[in-house]
Amino acid sequence: MAHLWSGRFAGDPDAALVAFGRSFGFDRRLFEDDVRGSQAWAQALARAGVLNAADAAAIRSGLDAVLAASTDRTFFDTPAAQEDEDVHAFVERELVARIGEAGRRLHTGRSRNEQVAVDLRLYLKRRIPAVQQALVALIDVLAASAERAGDALMPSYTHLRRAQPILAAHFFLAHVNALRRDHGRFGALLDDADELPLGSGAIAGTSYDIDVTWLARELGFSRIVRNSIDATGDRDIVATFLYAASLAMVHLSRLAEDMILFTSEEFAFFDLADTAATGSSLMPQKKNPDPLELVRGKAGRVIGRLTGWLATMKSLPIGYSKDLQEDKEALFEAEDTLHASLAASASVVGGIAINHENAARAASGLLLATDVADYLVAKGLPFRDAHEVVGAMVRRLVLERRSFEDLALAEWQSHSPLFAADVAEAVTAARSVAKKRTPQSTHPDAVAKALAEVRGWIQAAK
Ligand code: ARG
Repeated sequence: MAHLWSGRFAGDPDAALVAFGRSFGFDRRLFEDDVRGSQAWAQALARAGVLNAADAAAIRSGLDAVLAASTDRTFFDTPAAQEDEDVHAFVERELVARIGEAGRRLHTGRSRNEQVAVDLRLYLKRRIPAVQQALVALIDVLAASAERAGDALMPSYTHLRRAQPILAAHFFLAHVNALRRDHGRFGALLDDADELPLGSGAIAGTSYDIDVTWLARELGFSRIVRNSIDATGDRDIVATFLYAASLAMVHLSRLAEDMILFTSEEFAFFDLADTAATGSSLMPQKKNPDPLELVRGKAGRVIGRLTGWLATMKSLPIGYSKDLQEDKEALFEAEDTLHASLAASASVVGGIAINHENAARAASGLLLATDVADYLVAKGLPFRDAHEVVGAMVRRLVLERRSFEDLALAEWQSHSPLFAADVAEAVTAARSVAKKRTPQSTHPDAVAKALAEVRGWIQAAK
């Protein structure tokens, strides 16, 4: 069997080693990018006077035919394709099979090292917007949850201990904001990927008169790489994708964890839709959050791809090495896992119902202690002293298994003469959230404004 480099060797290479090196099983995903890059390259060669007009036209229509043939999925699984080393060899063989000799001129002045670099950039520019849209879809679902939550109260947690009352809407918007940064990270990567590597050759550049400025414009790149060694020998854009995907998965995992906790019998602030739950083969009462657990679990897979890829890159000498081929399975798996996890998260969160009573009940009680201290501060007591007074009250209430709302006025005043009759109504969960002032706070007006801002962002991002 002939390889793209057969002339150099006296005999056939070891079949098992050829199989070991093949990447067509996975890099076929770059097929349409490879065809697109090749179309533009052929035109650039013609413009440089390297290809005559007839050959350039033959290549153009030949590649069009190759692209058209790909709508038949068996195209990638023909006996000849089984032998192709990679997607670049596949496209070239299919082209030559259609147009003969002209096809054998396409690779003039070009290396697979820059070809894979351009394919990857085209691929990222094509696929990142879909990842971003999936993020927007989940953000949309979370914003709708915030909207539906209305004035529902729930406790917030630090150290997974009750902290202060919040609006449930504020909780949903917290997750929205993390996901918006993920969206921004993918946007920044789109800019990283926006440079043309063609013209770099295998490492040193090309000796043909290729108009890279024209080529960049033709392929939709806004600029040209600055260094051919770097362009062919680094794949940090893949690491950036994996990092952005890992962080998004970390955020999805934390969202899943919150949903798992808050829909559990122990918290019971939210209810999981029946359609988003699974049962137990043994225990009839179970309503398990399997999809959420899988999202949480799959975060490990994507983080593993990031760390694995960083380890692959870390000691490579500058310039292309075949190790770089390991990038693609990492990229594709992370992309697929993120997509599936975003869709599953949106579906589960969309079906969450708030259990208003339970959530509000958990939002009152001793977690109003900061509000009690603020009451004393408003009466002129220094905060440190107020903290001491309220700390002692809490100690007593915990021992007596009571809460602030159980205290008679005389009991309040036994802790401080500054407490007056208005203390009972000053210390409620609803008052606590209404007393917050800052724009990022859980004050109902601030949350309504934040939600409106998110709605505007979603509109613009769609
Ligand atoms: N499959 C290779 C990769 O992903 C393509 C470039 C191969 N170049 C080479 N000189 N073997 O890196």
